[in-house]
Amino acid sequence: MVKTDIIRQLTDYFQREGIRQAVILTDENVNRHYAGYFTALQELCAMDKIVIPAGEKSKSIETAASIWNNFVDKQYDRNIFLLNFGGGMVCDLGGFVASTYKRGIRFANCPTTLLAMIDAAVGGKTGVNLHHLKNAVGTFYFPEIQLSADVSLLETLPQEELLSGFGELVKYALIGSVELFQELFQAKKLPVIKQEYVDFCVKFKQEVVEKDPKDQVFRHILNFGHTFGHAIESYASEIGKPVAHGVAVAQGLYYESLLSYKLGHLPQEEWFQIAEFLKKHFHIITLSTDILEKLTNFMLNDKKNRNGMINFTLLERIGHATPDFQISSFDTLGVCDMPSITHNP
Ligand SMILES: NC(=O)c1ccc[n+]([C@@H]2O[C@H](COP(=O)([O-])OP(=O)(O)OC[C@H]3O[C@@H](n4cnc5c(N)ncnc54)[C@H](O)[C@@H]3O)[C@@H](O)[C@H]2O)c1
Repeated sequence: MVKTDIIRQLTDYFQREGIRQAVILTDENVNRHYAGYFTALQELCAMDKIVIPAGEKSKSIETAASIWNNFVDKQYDRNIFLLNFGGGMVCDLGGFVASTYKRGIRFANCPTTLLAMIDAAVGGKTGVNLHHLKNAVGTFYFPEIQLSADVSLLETLPQEELLSGFGELVKYALIGSVELFQELFQAKKLPVIKQEYVDFCVKFKQEVVEKDPKDQVFRHILNFGHTFGHAIESYASEIGKPVAHGVAVAQGLYYESLLSYKLGHLPQEEWFQIAEFLKKHFHIITLSTDILEKLTNFMLNDKKNRNGMINFTLLERIGHATPDFQISSFDTLGVCDMPSITHNP
C-alpha cells in the first residue's frame, strides 16, 4: 500500500463522516521525516498537529494530560478525529487519549514502524505506562478505520527498530504461516519487508482479535515468545543493558520453541530449523540457572498467569500454536528437570 491509498482511504472516510477537524499526533522523529505526509487532507478539513518527544517516556499519563489540555484549550468537542502517526508509542498513547477524551472520540492509526504496523496499531489495546509499569493504565478501544500500512515508511526506520519489528514478524510466521517462515528462512540477512508480509500479519491478528477481543484465552496465541520475551526485556533493563521489545521477543521465541520441543509438541527437525534461523538474526541470551531463576520470577508476575502457574503458548508445528498451557516450574531448559504442565483448552 502506498501513501496515496492511505490519503484516499482517509478522504473517503472524512467525506462520508463529515469530519471538519482532525488532529495529527506524532513524534519528533516521524515529524522530521514526514512533516507533509497528510498535507492533501487540508483541502477537506482543518488539520492540527501535536508533536511529542520520541521514546517510551512520552507514553505517560502526563503526556496524555497535556494532549487532553490542548484539546480543551482549543475547545474541541467529540467530533474531532485523531490521527496517530508514529510507532507503537504514539499509537498506544493516542488510542488511550482518543478513548478517554470526552468519553471517546474517533481515531485511526497510521503506523510508521514495523512493530506498530503488524502489532501495536491493530487489535484495540491502548495504554500508557505508570513510571516503570508498562501499560499499567489502558483501555480496549478500536480505531474507527483500519488504515492500510505503508511499508515505504520503513525506509527511514533505524536498523535496530526494524530488527525489533522483525522479531514480531517471525512470531506471526511461527504461529500462523509455514510458507512465510520458509520464505524468511531463505534470506541470508534481514530481508526487505514486503507489503504482503505486513498484510498477512495484520489479517492474522485481526482474525484472532475478532474471536477474542478482550484477551480471554484464544488471543493468548499472539503471546507466543512473549512470556520469556517480557521476562528477558525486564531482566535486560534491570542489569542496565536494555533490549528492544521485538529482539527480546525473538529470544522468547527461541526458548518457547525449545520448550515446545522438550514437552513433545514440536518435532525435533522443526526446532532445529527455528533455532538456526533465530540464531542467524538475533543474539540469544544463554540461560544459566541463576538467570533462569531471575526470569522465572519475572514470569511469575505475568498478568496472564493463574494460580501461581506460568501461562505459555506452545508450538505444535511451524505455523500452528496452541495457547494456555500452565507451567508450574522449570529449571534450566534441557539441563535440569523439565516442567510439569497442564493445558486448559
Ligand atoms: N497496543 C498493542 O497491542 C501493542 C503491541 C506491541 C507493542 N506495543 C507498544 O508499542 C511500543 C513500541 O513501539 P515501537 O517499537 O514502534 O516504538 P516507538 O514508537 O517508540 O518507535 C521507535 C523509534 O522509531 C522512531 N520512528 C518511528 N517511525 C519511524 C520512521 N518511519 N522513520 C524513522 N524513525 C521512526 C520513533 O521516533 C522512535 O524513536 C511500546 O510502547 C509497546 O508497549 C503495543
